[in-house]
Amino acid sequence: MMTKPTLDKTYRKLFLIAKNTLDKAYSPYSHIKVASAVLMSNGRVYSGCNIENASYGATICAERVAIFKAISEGAKKIKAILVLTNRNEIWPPCGICRQVMAEFASPITVVYATNLNKEFLKYRFSELLPGAFDKTFLV
Ligand code: THU
Repeated sequence: MMTKPTLDKTYRKLFLIAKNTLDKAYSPYSHIKVASAVLMSNGRVYSGCNIENASYGATICAERVAIFKAISEGAKKIKAILVLTNRNEIWPPCGICRQVMAEFASPITVVYATNLNKEFLKYRFSELLPGAFDKTFLV
């Protein structure tokens, strides 16, 4: 669903934090800037940007940087996560990021994908990775 930001307070908060992070993107190869902001169940928000590498496969997406920062600070569960790029098209999270989200999200975790015009797509995590392989298979 494409919509305009109206009364979605979580979107507005995460958008502002991601926007302030966008210029930290380290992307000398793609020249694409991506930022993420993640709201954790403890109420704290963590940000991240994409960090590319001369060995391209060592690149990490903004979403995983934000999530790993949160987890490494002791936060546990993702309530909402936003990904912002400097492109006109709205970029949804990549498959690897969805798998990482599966570890710390719930089916109702909100995922926003947005651009600098504040056009955004809003998903529930369960829509983005149905049938995820997660910790429930390993107990
Ligand atoms: N990228 C992200 O940071 N998040 C995504 O969801 C998709 C892709 C980054 C990785 C790379 O630095 C650039 O965008 C082009 O793929």
